[in-house]
Amino acid sequence: MSGQWWRHAAIYQIYPRSFADGTGDGIGDLAGLRNRLGYLKDLGIDALWLSPWYTSPMADAGYDVADYRDIDPLFGTLADAEAFLAEAHALGIRVIVDIVPNHCSDQHPWFQAALAARPGSPERELFWFRPGRGEHGELPPNDWQSNFGGPAWTRVPDGEWYLHLFAPEQPDWNWNHPEVRADFTRTLRFWLDRGVDGFRIDVAEALVKDPALPDFADLPIGVPAPWLDQDGVHEIYREWRAIADSSPQEAIFVGELWLTDPERFARYLRPDELHTGFNFPFLSAAWDAGELRTVVDQTLATHAPVGAPATWVLSNHDVTRVVTRYGRADTRHTWDLTREAHAADLALGTKRARAAALLSLSLPGTVYVYQGEELGLPEVQDLPEEVLADPRWERSGHTDRGRDGCRVPLPWSGDAPPFGFSPAGVRTWLPQPADWKALTAEAQSGDPGSMLTLYRTALRLRHQTADLLAGGLRWLPSDPEVLAYARGDSFVCVVNLGVEPVELPEYAEILLASGDLVAGKLPADTAVWLRTA
Ligand code: GLC
Repeated sequence: MSGQWWRHAAIYQIYPRSFADGTGDGIGDLAGLRNRLGYLKDLGIDALWLSPWYTSPMADAGYDVADYRDIDPLFGTLADAEAFLAEAHALGIRVIVDIVPNHCSDQHPWFQAALAARPGSPERELFWFRPGRGEHGELPPNDWQSNFGGPAWTRVPDGEWYLHLFAPEQPDWNWNHPEVRADFTRTLRFWLDRGVDGFRIDVAEALVKDPALPDFADLPIGVPAPWLDQDGVHEIYREWRAIADSSPQEAIFVGELWLTDPERFARYLRPDELHTGFNFPFLSAAWDAGELRTVVDQTLATHAPVGAPATWVLSNHDVTRVVTRYGRADTRHTWDLTREAHAADLALGTKRARAAALLSLSLPGTVYVYQGEELGLPEVQDLPEEVLADPRWERSGHTDRGRDGCRVPLPWSGDAPPFGFSPAGVRTWLPQPADWKALTAEAQSGDPGSMLTLYRTALRLRHQTADLLAGGLRWLPSDPEVLAYARGDSFVCVVNLGVEPVELPEYAEILLASGDLVAGKLPADTAVWLRTA
């Protein structure tokens, strides 16, 4: 792997607390991850992205960082992280870590110092402290709302308020302050020196705020929210890009950018900024040929002018698992749909998720696989309320069940929980459904019809097929309900999203199919990879 590996890599997302538990406390960790590196090698991925592993009180599962340059004891030590990096690299697997620059933890020493200091003190300048409104300052400084529900401001005992776009335990940094910038530069260098191959940037579009902190309701419709996509954010990423470019390992960035305007999105991917950004329009699209074709076209058109590779993402640790989403009446991702359980036909969802795997793994660019996607895990929609850990649950006054259903610990082996995730008898941090015994990695290994075998085969073919590493695609004539495209000289993918079986174009060999053909035709909700010459 060399030469712009990130333009066509298959990247697997590890959610550390739910991947594998090596220490027997019911929570995933680095020891567990190191034990399972062989599984990841066999799966055939090029790189890992790890959700945060830093010191954290875990108010938002590690997205509240108290020390950016150390590992949380739940997961291990810095030495464990270094050993893991060396072992992954020895297997030819690159490692991208999460960086959380928009906010830290309220336990971060600099926020603790700010709380202990006076209003107007230099310590408070590192964050967004403001007096309140109202006669006694009893109202928040403006009308901004937290992403997790409720106001984006919390009052401290001396009467000032501080800004948090997420939970109150996640105070927003003030990126206008040079010391904040300098400290993140130190953090990037710290991990680059330890050999990480890149960074996934959390909430990448929100670092810079309109310094006037205007009320949102007063702004004209259509202007970006004053906490999002402010022009000043690009200056930060130019600086960061220069740091990554100066690293010997060709380190890369992937931005978490939930922007709806494709042109605004592309600005982050200019040649001197981020290498890639997550494709959330693709993740949000319904299981519908017209909608997916539009998203693919728009994605490629958005990326071409800036020369950045597209990314293809079906799910992550924040959204409903695909098997469940594609089995619902409404197959889109929307935040509203994630709030509560919805009926899902899992057999149908699984069939579609298999077809979607062949779609996303054969589009031009980088592909992300969220842990458990390769096992066809469904969303666990019936977790008991008392185990729900996502801050969305509490912050919403128990109206939003949050994101725990896609974070249930992976089933590895055996017939009963904890399914090899933890040693027998240990309770995992979220309970696994008893019927996951058919979905363990062990049960699926060697089963030609399993999701795991489909992913392993597809990833192997992806590496072996030169056409899949070439840029661009050509749509082939097809029914409107069908996606059919060619890559390179002799590769074709056909996905049938309609209800009737369809004829295949002429081919020399079927490389892989997500389900059986019927009398030579491609049935509904099935995809096929063909070699045509
Ligand atoms: C991102 C993360 C999410 C987290 C939030 C706040 O959206 O993906 O898990 O809760 O940022 O850091």
